[in-house]
Amino acid sequence: MGADVIKFEPPTGDITRSQLRDIPDADSLYFTMLNCNKRSITVNMKNPEGKKVFEELVKKCDVVMENFGPGVLDRLGYPWEKIQELNPRCILASIKGFGSKGPFANCKAYENVAQAMGGAMSTTGLNDGPPLVTGAQIGDSGTGLHLAIGILAALYQRTHSNKGQFVEVAMVDGIMNLCRVKFRDHQRLARGPLTEYSVPTEGLTEVPRAGNDSGGGQLGNALKCKGGGLNDYLYIVVQEAIWPDLAKLVGGEELANDPRFATIGERRKNQKEMWKILNDFASKYTKWELMEIFNKIDVPCGPVLSTKDLAESEHAKVREMWVEVDHPVRGKYFNVGMPIKLSDSPVEIKRSPLLGEHTEEILREVCGFDQATIESMKAAGAFSNPPKKAA
Ligand SMILES: CC(C)(COP(=O)(O)OP(=O)(O)OC[C@H]1O[C@@H](n2cnc3c(N)ncnc32)[C@H](O)[C@@H]1OP(=O)(O)O)[C@@H](O)C(=O)NCCC(=O)NCCS
Repeated sequence: MGADVIKFEPPTGDITRSQLRDIPDADSLYFTMLNCNKRSITVNMKNPEGKKVFEELVKKCDVVMENFGPGVLDRLGYPWEKIQELNPRCILASIKGFGSKGPFANCKAYENVAQAMGGAMSTTGLNDGPPLVTGAQIGDSGTGLHLAIGILAALYQRTHSNKGQFVEVAMVDGIMNLCRVKFRDHQRLARGPLTEYSVPTEGLTEVPRAGNDSGGGQLGNALKCKGGGLNDYLYIVVQEAIWPDLAKLVGGEELANDPRFATIGERRKNQKEMWKILNDFASKYTKWELMEIFNKIDVPCGPVLSTKDLAESEHAKVREMWVEVDHPVRGKYFNVGMPIKLSDSPVEIKRSPLLGEHTEEILREVCGFDQATIESMKAAGAFSNPPKKAA
């Protein structure tokens, strides 16, 4: 989107370069799919000369973003105060599992730890089954998105204040934010049962798991369609306005005039029966046929799609959401495209950088070091691994 994003790596490289490798000696898809459009510099931050490189970058960059474990940046000698001293206009953006204060400030976290502690797991799954994580990376990518919003706000505020600021997002806080409607229901429980839920909520003090319930004012659920496969389902929202037409289509005038379903209140009360009728109807059609039938009467609905369905879909192609990139080591691979479309600055997805691919050019172009300085830093171990300690 116009930024020059420099991935600052230890000489051993980001750990994900080698995690879940599918091709020997090539950067993993884990790395290559999450690090496109960046340049890579490798610096040993525990080496005094390496620290000089980091400090020079802090002086030149608008934003420093880190997601080290708790206390790591302080141990390296760079608390927020030091960053400010080096460059008062610099924005320091930080992701932690639980943030810099609170009872869990010293704990590390990964995606599913955050989903467990942010309210996502306890509210996902079936009422009589274990808590479940969601497939979407709401802890990792979700927190990244929250941080990006914070960074953009800080960059804009800097145009008035001329000062940088510290932007922090805790993964658990980001998940709580994404679970906002569950906390809506948490407070509603104090006033009585949640009638739109398909599971009993009378007397509860915490929000239950509610399977595929819509979670909104309209009733919704996944209908099982013809085919019987794992993903042969169509998600449908029984919007208030479409009930008369939907009822006529599924059960004729009789269903349209059935007092058990006449109002949304009645449909909530009798939703078990309503879902049975809709599921019986759905069983005669594939999910795509049913989507077409329902779309004709304007029912909001969508088939459950697998990763294969999506990778091969016309939608993803037209929207440039599954794009091919070429990599010098792994060859061609696909990446998820850019979901944010800006009219004046379309984004081209460029392959992820090789480890330290841009070290020298960044040292010269961004830091302004001459070749003699770079060579002496190299000799002092600024860009290499520290020697292994004797056992
Ligand atoms: C993800 C996480 C659990 C990983 O923990 P970890 O593998 O122990 O890694 P840490 O970030 O704690 O530590 C990295 C170490 O590498 C060192 N390091 C990092 N970059 C370095 C560099 N360029 N040069 C030298 N050393 C470097 C750090 O100094 C630190 O060493 P220390 O423990 O001696 O201080 C932890 O970083 C974390 O909780 N991060 C915040 C939450 C988060 O982002 N989680 C999602 C991850 S998918």
